[in-house]
Amino acid sequence: MTQITNDPKLTAKVLNTGGVVGLPTETVYGLAARVDNAVAISRVYAIKERPVHHPLIVHAYDIGQCCDWGFMSDAAQTLANTYWPGPLTLLVKRTNRISDQITGGRDTVALRVPNHPIALEVLQGLSVPVVAPSANKFGRVSPTTAHHVLTDLADEVDLILDGGACVIGLESTILDCTTREVQVLRPGFLAAADITLATGIAITPPSGPSRAAGMLEHHYAPLCRVELFETRDQAFEALSLLKLKGTTGEILDYGTDLAAYAHDIYDDLRQCDIKKIKVALCVLPPPIGIGVAIRDRLGKAASSEG
Ligand code: TXA
Ligand code: MG
Repeated sequence: MTQITNDPKLTAKVLNTGGVVGLPTETVYGLAARVDNAVAISRVYAIKERPVHHPLIVHAYDIGQCCDWGFMSDAAQTLANTYWPGPLTLLVKRTNRISDQITGGRDTVALRVPNHPIALEVLQGLSVPVVAPSANKFGRVSPTTAHHVLTDLADEVDLILDGGACVIGLESTILDCTTREVQVLRPGFLAAADITLATGIAITPPSGPSRAAGMLEHHYAPLCRVELFETRDQAFEALSLLKLKGTTGEILDYGTDLAAYAHDIYDDLRQCDIKKIKVALCVLPPPIGIGVAIRDRLGKAASSEG
């Protein structure tokens, strides 16, 4: 039986001896292994059932440590200084030190310093960063509690560090700093407009070939079908129709509380599966701030394209 602990020292020890651990962050739980342990990283891919060419985010203790693994451009430096530790992942050119296994053979690496006190304590106890994709099976809902990790990955991980429920509950914003203008590859808690306001750095939508695997059409999905509505009335109407057909449905609506939406949505989708509800009817948030990221994730959860 996988042990759940709240001891960062024990967690660092397990990582240092080649283990794979569930690690809390402020966004979602990650599945961590040391960047210099190829065997442990292979296990991360195998446990997640993730295609091996899908690259992994490197989680470091601070900006200084990141510089060993990626070349921080001026824009990347400014963004890191402004937001790290925090829910921002920066795509930069890689150094030779990082392995192809982590970058999927690309010439870039995704770097992030998470803002979670005990995760940072763990990272401080290592001489190198860790890789940490979200600690769920590929394509499914990300975990926001230690219990979610246990439910999804059970005996496959060596240890789970319980850092409580993730404060944000939705994955980090990913910015590509290798293009002429910085581009958003994945929206997140930090909205592009706010980042520009704070840093003066212009941010554009992604162009060119798709780079982040999280940009796949179908992702972040529970077992139940996800249907999306702009208003509560529309969701109720659809629920009535479902009931007439004898199908079970549940409305997920958080009103105007975007933070609660982000914080609760993944757990509520998991609850729908536990209750064997057939359809989750989600009332979409307005496309402002973190609402953009919530709409992105729900759009992918609702998509039927594999
Ligand atoms: O909030 C988060 O970012 C969480 C926590 C655990 O930090 N992590 C996370 O990792 O969401 P993951 O693997 O589920 O999503 C990371 C995304 C993937 O779509 C991956 O393809 C992309 O980042 N990515 C990582 N390295 C990349 C690279 N070098 N080039 C392009 N995309 C990359
Ligand atoms: Mg993920």
